[in-house]
Amino acid sequence: MAADRTLPWDWFPGKIPANVTVADSAYVETSFSFLLYRSERTSGVTIGRGASTYLGTMFDVGPNGRVSLGDYALVHGARIICDADVTIDDYALISWNVVVMDSYRVPLDPDARRDEVRRLAHRQPRRLEGGAPAQPVCVGRGAWIGFDSCVLPGVTVGAGAIVGARSVVTVDVEPFTIVAGNPARPIRRLTDEEMAHGR
Ligand SMILES: CC(C)(COP(=O)(O)OP(=O)(O)OC[C@H]1O[C@@H](n2cnc3c(N)ncnc32)[C@H](O)[C@@H]1OP(=O)(O)O)[C@@H](O)C(=O)NCCC(=O)NCCS
Repeated sequence: MAADRTLPWDWFPGKIPANVTVADSAYVETSFSFLLYRSERTSGVTIGRGASTYLGTMFDVGPNGRVSLGDYALVHGARIICDADVTIDDYALISWNVVVMDSYRVPLDPDARRDEVRRLAHRQPRRLEGGAPAQPVCVGRGAWIGFDSCVLPGVTVGAGAIVGARSVVTVDVEPFTIVAGNPARPIRRLTDEEMAHGR
């Protein structure tokens, strides 16, 4: 990142926001990832040593949101929707088109939802507000989230766990366990041999 917070290789004419910390050896492919970023916290996004965020990654972070990407975490085009805390721990790998969300942003009550879309029509910017309180999400150290998956509010994916492609994770995933499907269910634990190098 250059001193003026632009990225020398960027195709988008943006800057990395002032309250985003990017470690020297981390890689952010484009500042477009911050188009939806609105965090007002002292530290809104932290990107650790050697971590990478590639094209398609969107930090959709509200005013009270804070996202932490650990050392060598790799986010390959995910939407991170955060109104409280999203933690993606060291060496975690998030594949294409994944959604990690700590907040639904939309009221569950149909009348409240209707009122909200009416208000939206007269609001600038046209952004939904309200909904259930945010619940922090954590993707553990060395976990792997397969493509097109969704990790819902309040979920912790344990260290070294694997979420199969196109899964919807509604409850916590035990460490070193493979889950898949909608809703995601355990398939099996990793074997000792598979885990030998994963801790
Ligand atoms: C989960 C995964 C890692 C395979 O794990 P595995 O232990 O080898 O699982 P298997 O292939 O032996 O399948 C075990 C069972 O789970 C089911 N299963 C596997 N992946 C599934 C998925 N994504 N969704 C639903 N069911 C799945 C299989 O159909 C099988 O079911 P059965 O026992 O009824 O026959 C793999 O299927 C997967 O989804 N990989 C993600 C790939 C990816 O996202 N790559 C992006 C590059 S970063």
